[in-house]
Amino acid sequence: MKIVDQLVSWVEERTGLVKPVIDMAKHLVPPGSKWFYVFGTAIMSSFLVQVVTGIGLMSSYIPSAGQAYESIKYITSVAPFGNLIRAMHYFGASSMVIFVFIHMIRVYLMGSYKFPREIQWLSGVALLFFTIVMGFTGQVLRWDQNAVWTIAVGAEQALRAPFVGKFISDIIVSGGMVSSSTLGHFFVVHVFLLPGLLIGAIGLHVYLVLRNGISEPPKVGEAVDPKTYVKKYHAMLQRDGKPFWPDAAWRDIVFSTIVVTVIFILAIGFGAPAIEKPPDPSLVNASPRPDWYLVWYFALLAFLPHRAEDFVIIAFPVFLGVSLLAVPFINNKGERSPSRRPWAIAIVLCSLAAVSALTYLGFTEPWTPKFEASKLTPEIIGASSGPIYDGAQVFDTKGCLYCHTISGHGGKRGPDLTEVGNRLTHEQVIVRIVGGGYNMPAYAGNITPKELSDVADFLVSRKAK
Ligand code: HEC
Repeated sequence: MKIVDQLVSWVEERTGLVKPVIDMAKHLVPPGSKWFYVFGTAIMSSFLVQVVTGIGLMSSYIPSAGQAYESIKYITSVAPFGNLIRAMHYFGASSMVIFVFIHMIRVYLMGSYKFPREIQWLSGVALLFFTIVMGFTGQVLRWDQNAVWTIAVGAEQALRAPFVGKFISDIIVSGGMVSSSTLGHFFVVHVFLLPGLLIGAIGLHVYLVLRNGISEPPKVGEAVDPKTYVKKYHAMLQRDGKPFWPDAAWRDIVFSTIVVTVIFILAIGFGAPAIEKPPDPSLVNASPRPDWYLVWYFALLAFLPHRAEDFVIIAFPVFLGVSLLAVPFINNKGERSPSRRPWAIAIVLCSLAAVSALTYLGFTEPWTPKFEASKLTPEIIGASSGPIYDGAQVFDTKGCLYCHTISGHGGKRGPDLTEVGNRLTHEQVIVRIVGGGYNMPAYAGNITPKELSDVADFLVSRKAK
């Protein structure tokens, strides 16, 4: 032990860093701040998992449109521990998103954002934003069918927004079309820019936690008054405070260990998420299917009338962002106890109900393309060779089946085409395929004349029996 002490004082003498670290570990925290206060560290632990596994992934990932897909496949099936690392990165991301939301709801319900912790809340909103953009950009790096569709459609939908549409769409795709440079930008944002911003915001957030102290558990009738709060808080700490280490820290450690273990078990049990087919330029600009935590938002857009969608796509996130930023300015004093703040409870419950309902609909309703649609069989096609049969193959390879149902097979994003031969002529079908429609990609330039005529032959042969 003596040698350890000597070593510590040797370092302390030369850096002066040991004492501040010990002071920090021993800083006083309010009593009674039990298991409600472990979510912040759960976010940090998930973030650490992301940093470590992210570095692992980066060492084999190739951010170029031609090779990204192959490199992900290599990581998933060949590289040692590649599948496990990818899976941990996936579940770590979900964990981070989940705990950011839980932490935010906890802070909101307990009024912990009130004076003097307003800037803590603001840096938390920044962290929420960075985390979501992290998730979105990470999903794009998979560079499979779904990823490429996601940006193409994101950009196309953004383009329809008034005023800022063009600008946002240019930021998303960069250079007018989805290409290697698009992927390069997403890569830089995901592995460099955002992690930097995240670490900065986390630093500020944690510094403020230490400076202002964590909020004491709210008590009914103990309102926050900016004139007296800080004095009262410090008096309370001196009287009843407990050192963070070890009195409170053990809960953080236990909880974080559970979180990381669960990420690990899920990663082993489920493995990395499947990658879709490789991206095919002729399918670009259909409909995205985002990772689960954004599904509710796309569901919201899908259920809106077309005109409203164009506006809401930008206005809604802006509205949410502004509302969140406004929270500590609307009310930074007064009661903190949830039982005295029925509106806070109502807002949280309504938001949770809306998001759950939309997420449920997003997964069950037909608005997303169905990438796993099974191929049409010769019985359904009614032929096993010739133009009609060839046309049915085109219908499959060009992704038409993702969105259209034929005799019960396929997705439901577009109209059911089982009996389209009764409605449309050969000519009309061709016009539609070449020109596209609302939420149907235009295939002009991505389909050969023969494919076009075959698929039209196939479709007009679809008639009521
Ligand atoms: C991303 C989903 C999507 C894909 C992929 C897609 N479509 Fe469509 N399709 C739609 C939607 C949505 C509509 C309705 C468009 C509208 O009303 O403006 C539609 C309409 C049509 C119609 C007109 C149907 C009618 O009853 O009026 C035809 C024909 C058609 N698609 C054929 C095709 C073919 C052939 C392909 C493949 C080459 C294809 N679609 C790929 C979504 C899709």
